[in-house]
Amino acid sequence: MKERLDKILASQNIGSRKEAGLLIRRGAVTVNGAVVKQADSKADGDTDEICVNGAPLRYKRRLYLMMNKPAGVLSAARDSRMATVLDLLPETFRRRGLFPAGRLDKDTCGLLIITDDGAFAHRMLSPKSGIPKVYRARLDAPVTDEDVLAFEAGLVIGDLHCLPARLERLETDGAPWAQVTVYEGKFHQVKRMFACRGRKVEYLERIKIGNLALDTRLSPGETRELTEQERFAVFA
Ligand code: URA
Repeated sequence: MKERLDKILASQNIGSRKEAGLLIRRGAVTVNGAVVKQADSKADGDTDEICVNGAPLRYKRRLYLMMNKPAGVLSAARDSRMATVLDLLPETFRRRGLFPAGRLDKDTCGLLIITDDGAFAHRMLSPKSGIPKVYRARLDAPVTDEDVLAFEAGLVIGDLHCLPARLERLETDGAPWAQVTVYEGKFHQVKRMFACRGRKVEYLERIKIGNLALDTRLSPGETRELTEQERFAVFA
């Protein structure tokens, strides 16, 4: 798709539209080897070879990132008072239009997808998609067989009617850990489900969305790009 050259550069974090325009007018930008000096000239980011100061632009129409969200940061695009997940992104991943696709509570850790693809996020989050999300939780007391059955039946918490969820006890040396799979994403859902069964969640981490598992090599706060295969795995 052909687009204005200044727009292409700005979308790839080469500065604002105005700054990109300046670079172009100064002759710093080539398209397929030829210097282009008009900011409004058209190029195709996918097929044209665009260079800025001699360095090839690694054009990506959309960005799909996996973050291992640490506790203590908001999963929001911006906040006037508190650090958000976007503040943790390294310079190479920063660009306009990024947002976290779905929220984790401030104190929840683990798998968070950050993208600038609204359609991807919408499909992932739509209740119609029914994409499973898997959480690991440490509780204040162990789960019982009755809890497992209650999760499976679909909890009713006030006016929140939960879809059937899968609750598994995790083998640990005594600590009450559990794994929960939910097929929706209501506000504080997992904590409210456990609270309804008289348990308190002391630690919560998301480890999977669809078939996409958190890359355990990512330290808390670290981010990497998703491969194409991983992007599809969200919906597999
Ligand atoms: N459920 C919760 O209670 N909190 C989260 O952050 C995610 C799911």
